[in-house]
Amino acid sequence: MAITKASNSSARRKELLPFSRPSLGNEEIEEVVHSMKSGWITTGPKCHQFEEDLRKYVGASHAIALTSATAGLHLSLLAAGIGHGDEVITTSMTFAATANVITLVGARPVFVDIGGDLNINPELIETAITTRTKAIMPVHFAGYPCDMDRIMAIARRRNLVVIEDAAHAIGTEYNGRRIGSIGDMTIFSFHPIKNITTGEGGMLVTDNPSFAEKTRLLKFHGIQKDAWKRYGAKEIPQYEILFPGFKYNLTDLQAALGIHQMKKLDDFIEQRTRYARIYQESLRDVKEIMLPEAPAHKGTRHAWHLFVVLADIDRLAIDRDRFMGEMLEANIGIGLHFPAIHLQPYYQKTFGYARGMFPRTEFVSDRIFSLPLYPGMSEGDVRDAASAVREIVARHTRQPK
Ligand SMILES: Cc1ncc(COP(=O)(O)O)c(C=O)c1O
Repeated sequence: MAITKASNSSARRKELLPFSRPSLGNEEIEEVVHSMKSGWITTGPKCHQFEEDLRKYVGASHAIALTSATAGLHLSLLAAGIGHGDEVITTSMTFAATANVITLVGARPVFVDIGGDLNINPELIETAITTRTKAIMPVHFAGYPCDMDRIMAIARRRNLVVIEDAAHAIGTEYNGRRIGSIGDMTIFSFHPIKNITTGEGGMLVTDNPSFAEKTRLLKFHGIQKDAWKRYGAKEIPQYEILFPGFKYNLTDLQAALGIHQMKKLDDFIEQRTRYARIYQESLRDVKEIMLPEAPAHKGTRHAWHLFVVLADIDRLAIDRDRFMGEMLEANIGIGLHFPAIHLQPYYQKTFGYARGMFPRTEFVSDRIFSLPLYPGMSEGDVRDAASAVREIVARHTRQPK
């Protein structure tokens, strides 16, 4: 990729630094070709291998490959029997998927405010519990783990199911345990910007055999046998519909990517961590830029899915959107993770959420944006992005009156 200057340059890059780019190699390409030549391209042996590899990596008893994390979150709620009139406690600092699936099963998303790490604040969970509460859905924001000990303790005491939205958190560790081995159900995403990708895809993991069985049925029309068992093996292709389900099965073409991405995951996280440190060092003295807290407790591993910054708009003469616009003008791709859900029109109209309810989430929602962070970038790219931030800040720092 052509860039003007690698380090601390004030010159604009000649070409856009993409916000994200998947790291796919020949291994993935050859595995996809192998599937195509084998004649088996939908759910089959490669999905099974991907499930086994991920299951063992995170330390769970069951893993079910799905079309997306959204599908996994949807099925987790149905597997837990959550529906009309129920409430699920979650965070508003998340992607649409988390709250949308709660709403789509007929339940109410009950938001609580976040802490300095941008994860759900466990201290506020207990006060949000009512007789209708059925589950807590924490989101490991950007790949930094939620305080799972406290969340699990509340859930066990109040008889609630814990469904972890781990879309950002494959490879995240909490107290020496991998995310995927703690909550009742955990869901990962393999969307192209995630730490590993299958193009699109997701995986639900659980230790609970009945949640696993329900998810397996629901992912494929409520039918016990998937296509591999119906057409691939020497069995009579008979089947029974136990209840109406969905069409959420991952294909072998996608799992072909996942098998090799899993092998590279730890190296990817190492590279992401190295680049996150460079960002932290490059931006530490910029007082107009705030970084989330991410304390490195023993046994904690941040998977660094995202590197987010908060533009201190009280010290700047521009707002966050203008800041993002100037980043793009400097040819640096940026992301917005996330505008608060409770400020979205549907959630305000339907559930009566309004500005002022979750002050910390709103503070973050007004200031946050994401810088490029992926293994395929160079150290020079990271420094270019940090330099662009510094230059925009220098241009727009509010002069004291
Ligand atoms: C926090 C969070 N949850 C869920 C999802 C949904 O993941 P998917 O795109 O695999 O459905 C995303 C996707 O970006 C996400 O960021």
